[in-house]
Amino acid sequence: MTDRGVQPPHRAVSLGESGRLGAGRGDAMAEFFSMAGQVVLVTGGGQGIGAAVVRRLHSAGARVAVFDADAGRAGAVAAGVGGVAVVGDVRSEADVAGALERAESALGPLTVLVNNAGITGRCDLSWNLSADEMRQVLDVNVMGPFLFCRAAVPGLLARGYGRVVNVASIAGKEGNPTLLPYSASKAAVIAMTKSLAKELAGKGDLTVNAISPAVIRTPILDDMSPATVDYMIGKIPVGRVGTVEEVAALVHYLASPEASFTTGQCYDISGGRATY
Ligand SMILES: NC(=O)c1ccc[n+]([C@@H]2O[C@H](COP(=O)([O-])OP(=O)(O)OC[C@H]3O[C@@H](n4cnc5c(N)ncnc54)[C@H](O)[C@@H]3O)[C@@H](O)[C@H]2O)c1
Repeated sequence: MTDRGVQPPHRAVSLGESGRLGAGRGDAMAEFFSMAGQVVLVTGGGQGIGAAVVRRLHSAGARVAVFDADAGRAGAVAAGVGGVAVVGDVRSEADVAGALERAESALGPLTVLVNNAGITGRCDLSWNLSADEMRQVLDVNVMGPFLFCRAAVPGLLARGYGRVVNVASIAGKEGNPTLLPYSASKAAVIAMTKSLAKELAGKGDLTVNAISPAVIRTPILDDMSPATVDYMIGKIPVGRVGTVEEVAALVHYLASPEASFTTGQCYDISGGRATY
């Protein structure tokens, strides 16, 4: 802080000698956003954005549980960070309860929950979709985060500290054609974030925030129609897709102890597609 109470200009965070954020000797900036002592669970952490979040939070000092439906992917990512792999389906109450027990018995009480697992569903005009196709997307993208929040919040409340970061999507703000179930599910994630944030506000250092990425290069795009992906990329003013590292950096901030006066927000990471 200067003597006028103004923050100095931003400097880039550097990796320390060990390659871990916050490990650089004599680098005051590297002390910021430390996740030392934090216990994190990332759903859908086996690949894509979730795996990048796992690696980033680990590099900042957190102990991380990687929850994923795919055992091979969860195991590989967890092994890479000395974390815990937990295999399960976010739609299953039993899997969710078991995941928290397993993560906490191995790593300690949870402090950060990242609800990241999600699916797009089939890309088509909405009147061509079956009711089951709609339900499947809502089950994974809405019920999953709901079940994980419901399971984790009592512990966070009891300890008076917690960070919840929900991965929504620009689709939840804008509504993408041929992605009605996905868009509706992500709008629900944004609203759920705001409701839970208000329920927890003032009950401790507890924040709940969402992020809304535009197109990020991950395997999720492989399951979508090229026309839908092209439509979405064409809407990004900076003219490129985002990277998982860029998304992980934003999640890192929201998951950090420093992000203590921001709750109920949906952070845009869309290359300028949304300016709200
Ligand atoms: N990639 C993008 O362009 C983009 C844009 C906006 C939002 N998002 C959101 O970011 C999140 C991650 O996306 P991604 O691109 O990394 O996806 P991805 O498909 O690459 O990875 C998703 C992971 O979640 C796991 N998963 C899926 N359903 C699950 C379930 N029922 N239970 C447990 N695990 C499950 C998968 O096994 C996979 O490892 C999703 O919520 C997605 O909607 C992605």
